Amino acid sequence: MGVVGTGHVGLATGASLAYVGHRVRCLDNDQERVAGLREGRIPFYEPGLEELLAKSAGRLRFAGYERLAEVLREVDVLFVAVGTPQGADGSAGLSNVADVARAIGRSLGGSRPHKVPLIVVNKSTVPVGSAYYVSTLVSEGIEDAGGESAEFRVASNPEFLREGSAVHDSLFPDRVVVGTDSKEALDALRILYAPIVEQSFPTQWDPRPKVAVPFVTTDLASAEMIKYAANAFLATKISFINEVANLCELVGADVSEVAHGIGLDDRVGSRFLSAGIGWGGSCFPKDVATLRATGRAYDHETPLLDAAAAVNERQRTRVIHKLQRDLHSLESKRVALLGLSFKPNTDDLRGAPSLQVASVLTSLGARVVGYDPVAGKAAAMLAPDIQVVFDPYEALRGANAAVVVTEWEEVRGLDPKKAAALMREPKLIVDGRNALDAAAVREAGLLYRGFGRGYDSD
Ligand code: UDX
Repeated sequence: MGVVGTGHVGLATGASLAYVGHRVRCLDNDQERVAGLREGRIPFYEPGLEELLAKSAGRLRFAGYERLAEVLREVDVLFVAVGTPQGADGSAGLSNVADVARAIGRSLGGSRPHKVPLIVVNKSTVPVGSAYYVSTLVSEGIEDAGGESAEFRVASNPEFLREGSAVHDSLFPDRVVVGTDSKEALDALRILYAPIVEQSFPTQWDPRPKVAVPFVTTDLASAEMIKYAANAFLATKISFINEVANLCELVGADVSEVAHGIGLDDRVGSRFLSAGIGWGGSCFPKDVATLRATGRAYDHETPLLDAAAAVNERQRTRVIHKLQRDLHSLESKRVALLGLSFKPNTDDLRGAPSLQVASVLTSLGARVVGYDPVAGKAAAMLAPDIQVVFDPYEALRGANAAVVVTEWEEVRGLDPKKAAALMREPKLIVDGRNALDAAAVREAGLLYRGFGRGYDSD
């Protein structure tokens, strides 16, 4: 099998399927990335992925796009896992997927023999209906190359892995979803995923599910919608708890207690109920925006999704308001951002709340200093507004306020007394993740503001 695209999704897919026994060819158009991967280096921070790569090395090979035709002669299934960069309205852009689809068509039409038919599987998160578009583009490519007899089938196999736990999520998924109207495609993917679905591969990783992983088969549009609906639901769940958190601040309730109390109901579930600065990343913002854009395209309103996005935006503003309440003017105030990546265990800054907050703070005249155990270098290049330092206490030195933006262990474990000794009045901590021990922070002489943690949050 082959994979086009070696980002989080493509690489985790290729490496995990190689790990469970398949021979995998991975393609990327970035030659530097390909060269690094051949030496076992991954171009982003993802715990365990390098190890998985090393363990699968004999079965996993990397090449540039120029080898597409050669790879197509070898593989029966080709996954497309290229990026879908955000367009002006925040929704997913299809240009990379379209380019790859045309190139597959041209290669299929232009040289022989190929395994017949080729199964083209889309893993990139593309707007619902894109599978048909991909199919048209592959056909056009085949026609352009004059190879009308070349056959292919299309399937959608959305990816649900989370950054930071991509290895675990690929080997032990909650479900595998395949959408297609082709029996050949379904059979090929069933065989490919069998070791993961049956959990029959040998592994050092524990715990693994005791039962088989559900293999969900459906039509193309439903598979594509499952991905969007899953992410939009989770984003809405977080916005819901953030709305509750904001009400908690007015009535003196503690949102952590409330989340615990409602999460014990199986119908609600305890996960994704952490209130704070709101969701970010490369998926939730784009997927919610894409689903809203889909509604607009059909002249259909999506008030719940609109509200989920609006609540999320407001959480960022609440950080600024909490700072203003105790600092008053932010002009010339030094504000430390603790954690810059959009969540812990990744160096990804896409959709990171830190960048949004930093840009507002800078516009209000504050001096912003940022610390992140992993994403610091990337932030220094991307956000010249932020003075990046590589030690959390260095960030706190002389700061009037600090914002916990990302709940890295290094941030959770900060010594409040040491922080208090380094900070300048009013020594405010805005805990955007409710990650710190509020009592210990206050005891150390710092001013503490969380999110939804009773009257004192506000
Ligand atoms: C998400 C989906 O979880 C994954 O299934 C999909 O394939 C890709 O998108 P990811 O973007 O890696 O994964 O991050 P995730 O762990 O889901 O967190 C998303 C955002 O929500 C982060 O900004 C995180 O900080 C925030 N979040 C999460 C909260 O604010 N509160 C929570 O309770 C949980």
